[in-house]
Amino acid sequence: MEDLRSLLYRLKEQHTLTKEEWTALIAGRTPKLARELFSLARQEQQRWYSHDIYIRGLIEFTNYCRNDCLYCGIRRSNKNAARYRLSQEEILSCCRAGYDLGFRTFVLQGGEDSYFTDERMIDLIQAIKSRYPDCAVTLSIGERSRESYQAFFDAGADRYLLRHETFNGEHYSRLHPPSLSAARRQQCLWDLKDIGYQVGTGFMVGSPFQTPEHLAEDLLFIEKLQPHMVGIGPFIPHHDTPFATEPAGTLELTLFMLGLLRLLLPKVLLPATTALGTISPDGREQGVLAGANVVMPNLSPTSVRAKYLLYDNKIAVDAEAAEGRELLERQMTAIGYRVVTARGDSRMTDI
Ligand code: 5AD
Repeated sequence: MEDLRSLLYRLKEQHTLTKEEWTALIAGRTPKLARELFSLARQEQQRWYSHDIYIRGLIEFTNYCRNDCLYCGIRRSNKNAARYRLSQEEILSCCRAGYDLGFRTFVLQGGEDSYFTDERMIDLIQAIKSRYPDCAVTLSIGERSRESYQAFFDAGADRYLLRHETFNGEHYSRLHPPSLSAARRQQCLWDLKDIGYQVGTGFMVGSPFQTPEHLAEDLLFIEKLQPHMVGIGPFIPHHDTPFATEPAGTLELTLFMLGLLRLLLPKVLLPATTALGTISPDGREQGVLAGANVVMPNLSPTSVRAKYLLYDNKIAVDAEAAEGRELLERQMTAIGYRVVTARGDSRMTDI
């Protein structure tokens, strides 16, 4: 096979590699190769998005969840999780605070909570869109029927985030209960795309049992799906889950995967995630320098933040939204980027 360095240059030109080539790059990576990758990734990031960093206000509106994913701290069988759900008024006041801080996208994220029926979700989406017509509403509420997705879209939802978690079916089944499947997850993503959402998918890096081949399959799936956004972050163990003693994914591999994603889909929206900021104090800055161009600070009320714990040691559980926004501004300015007030749509479809 070609040397790994020339694979990188071919990836930058052709935006595709075979499974064997992806695997070789991931398994054979070195610090030197990573530096070269990040510099190519930044060229693409800046070509499409300049030095702009888009922000999304994350509202974690319920931590009730009917699922029992083995890695997740709000899994159903975690009896130690203190459950909460926000009222519509509380959610709207998060939006108000966020709007005043310059957020033009609100991400409604929650566990799969049956309290939030289609009717309640539609009501909520319409309430936000009528007050903030210049803002995008992003949903991140897991698997629903195609009909529900359509109804939310018709109510005004613009985007939907649903990580595929891992493409490989066998690997998927080692991370999830038998009631969930990789195939069903992927079908949801195809439905969302078909309906017309701007779609975000993604996966955890360094999840238990993950191999470089699995990551290669994730990249092939992403190439096929052509999502508008790809959210990736390191797996981080949560003490009340079956994976409590599993090792966390590394900053190093997560950054490498961010760089590869930027070359695979140059115009994609790539968040430097909270999990990345959690495993390293400058994780989000390093993420941006590896090709990321989005950050999603928390707008949830401080009273509930410490309850939305998917993993241990999550950052900013006691910071006010305004503090988080200011810190981010400083962090991004320090590395030569700027936080912008804009909806921050992907450039996937505009050229
Ligand atoms: N570590 C890292 N990421 C996690 N997620 C859930 N649990 C963990 C964990 N322990 C991620 C999943 C999910 C997203 C909302 O959070 O990928 O899709």
